[in-house]
Amino acid sequence: MPGHVPVLKEEAVQLLLTDPNGTYVDVTLGGGGHAAAILESLGVDGRLVGLDCDPAAIDHARAMPPAPDPRFVAGRARFSEIRPALQGLGISVVDGILADLGISSIQLDDPARGLSYTASGPLDMRLDPSLPRTADALLRAIDDDELLRVLRELGEVPRPRAAVRAIRRALAAEVTVTAETLRKALEPLYPGPARPRRLSQVFQALRIAVNRELDELESLLHEAAHLLRPGGTLCVIAYHSLEDRIVKNTFRPPRPYDPREPIPESPWVPLTKKPIRPSDEECRRNPRARSARLRAARLKAEAA
Ligand SMILES: C[S@@+](CC[C@H](N)C(=O)[O-])C[C@H]1O[C@@H](n2cnc3c(N)ncnc32)[C@H](O)[C@@H]1O
Repeated sequence: MPGHVPVLKEEAVQLLLTDPNGTYVDVTLGGGGHAAAILESLGVDGRLVGLDCDPAAIDHARAMPPAPDPRFVAGRARFSEIRPALQGLGISVVDGILADLGISSIQLDDPARGLSYTASGPLDMRLDPSLPRTADALLRAIDDDELLRVLRELGEVPRPRAAVRAIRRALAAEVTVTAETLRKALEPLYPGPARPRRLSQVFQALRIAVNRELDELESLLHEAAHLLRPGGTLCVIAYHSLEDRIVKNTFRPPRPYDPREPIPESPWVPLTKKPIRPSDEECRRNPRARSARLRAARLKAEAA
C-alpha cells in the first residue's frame, strides 16, 4: 500500500507534548505517521489514542506501526464524536490533541474512493463510509444555487456557473457518475497548464461539502476546549484557507469593528503568532505539504 508522508512532523510533536507521560489524542490517525512520532517521544507511562473517521485508517494502524504498542489504542470516530469515543475508553481529560486535517495520500490515491480527478471509481468521496450521502447523491440532492456556493466558497473555482452546467450535464447522462466522467465533463472548461489545479479545486470543494469538513472542524475546536486539561495543547495542521481561518479566529477571535463592542473572550492562548509553514526542503521532498499551516494554542487555566 502506498504510504502517507506526515507533514510538519517534528514541529507538531514538539508543540503537542508538554508531559511525556501524559495522555494525547491524534484525531486524524491516517497512515499513522504523526502517531508513530508521538509514540517515539512519549515516556513509558504516556498514552496515545489514535482516532479517524475512516475504518480503513484504523485497520491500517492496527496492522502496522505504531501498533502493537501497549501505550497506543486506535478507534473510529468523527471529530464531532470525540467526547463519547474517549469516554468509551475511560478518558475524560487529555494533555494534548493533534488534528492533521484533510485526507491522506492513501485515501487520495485509492481510485475506488473517487477523491482525485485522476480516479476512475464511483464519485463517493466519503471519508467515513457510514455518512448517508456520497458525492454523487449530494450533487443530485442540491440545487444549482447551492452547488454554485460549494464551488465558489469551498473551492474558489473559476468559471463556477459553467462548472455547474457541466456537472449537471454529466449527472443527466449517467445513472451513477464516476470521478472520470466528472473530470471529462469539466476538462473543456479549463484548458492549458492550470487544468490540474482547477480540477483539484472542484474535487476538493465537493469533498469538503460531502464530509461537512468545516462543521466537523468547528465541532472539534469546541470539544477540545472541554477535553483538554488547563494548559493542554491543541495543534491543528490545515491545508485549506477556510479551515486555517476558522482555527486562527478560534485561537484569537478578531477584534470587533466597533470599539464600543466588548472584545470576545477566548479560552485559548495562541502558541504560534503566525502559522508554521513547511520548509522549502520539506515541500521539495513532499509536494503535498505545500499548503500546510500549523497553528497551536494552550487552553487557559480558567477555561476548563
Ligand atoms: C492528512 S490525513 C492524516 C495523516 C496522519 N497525520 C499521518 O501522519 O499519517 C487526515 C486524516 O483525517 C481523517 N479525517 C478527516 N476528517 C475527519 C473527521 N471529521 N473526523 C475524523 N477523522 C477525520 C481522514 O480520514 C484522514 O485519515
